[in-house]
Amino acid sequence: MEKKVILTGDRPTGKLHIGHYIGSLKNRVMLQNSGKYRPFIMIADTQALTDNARNPEKIRNSLIQVALDYLAVGIDPEISTIFVQSQIPALFELTAYYMDLVTVSRLERNPTVKTEIGQKGFNDSIPVGFLNYPVSQAADITAFKASLVPAGDDQEPMIEQAREIVRTFNRVYNCDVLVEPKGYFPEDGSGRLPGLDGNAKMSKSLNNAIYLSDDAETVQKKVMSMYTDPDHIHVEDPGKIEGNTVFTYLDIFDPDKDKVAQLKEDYQKGGLGDVKIKRYLNKVLEAELAPIRERRAKFAEDEAAVYEMLIEGSKKANEVANETLQQVRSAIGLNYFD
Ligand code: TRP
Repeated sequence: MEKKVILTGDRPTGKLHIGHYIGSLKNRVMLQNSGKYRPFIMIADTQALTDNARNPEKIRNSLIQVALDYLAVGIDPEISTIFVQSQIPALFELTAYYMDLVTVSRLERNPTVKTEIGQKGFNDSIPVGFLNYPVSQAADITAFKASLVPAGDDQEPMIEQAREIVRTFNRVYNCDVLVEPKGYFPEDGSGRLPGLDGNAKMSKSLNNAIYLSDDAETVQKKVMSMYTDPDHIHVEDPGKIEGNTVFTYLDIFDPDKDKVAQLKEDYQKGGLGDVKIKRYLNKVLEAELAPIRERRAKFAEDEAAVYEMLIEGSKKANEVANETLQQVRSAIGLNYFD
């Protein structure tokens, strides 16, 4: 039986952090290693440009960082095709055809786009390319006929919009060329890592992230600075668990659930200090991050080989995307010269 195709990706606007890891990377590696899928992993540099057009250096410099992060967490280019969005011309042609099937108001209603427009302060000066990025993302997904898109739950509206485009395209052009994708999200409660400061989101711009590339000392410093219970002043005071970032992280990262339950109990009773739970969390994080960090450093020794891997991946991706593009052109009736 033919393997189901997976497509997913990340915008290269910086190094990836442990929020990306928990929200999406970990699932990708698990799906990859199940042997049941054919995964394509895309570095979405063109999408990153939609709100960084005047700062292309940032994207350029981040490309290799994201590639290293992928390899570090265990994405294996022998199994998963890692490629670069801007190097796949078919994606832009597909985007052009899909744009004619989507209304401006539908894009403006896309919840993720809406939130981002607010966050980025675009107000009335939204770049056309930015508003259109859900359409371009539909091209990314459909070019590979992906049926599964493992991503963070903020990507759900993108996948929904892609599904709509697929249905519209197949109906309007009376064909079954495009495949409807499904999202694959982390289990409830385990997919969203708050920032070190307790903010709901870990992000570079909020300066509250632990990066996959951070060294052990940096991670420890960051853990020691984490937001806990502001009313837990003396060790003997009873502490709060709700909204206490250290315990949220322990719930997500510590495989020893009994131990975490015991720590919570002790903390709530009073007598367990913040420094102690932070030291423990640091140990738990290190168990997961140390091997990733070591692999990353190894791959970073030979950047030329990483670029070579991206060239190879992009070549493979072009073959697949071009084939879909030909089918799309034929379905619309643009195959005049066949
Ligand atoms: N929007 C995704 C992000 O911001 C990146 C992305 C681009 C993507 N194209 C995609 C994710 C296709 C999944 C499928 O991280």
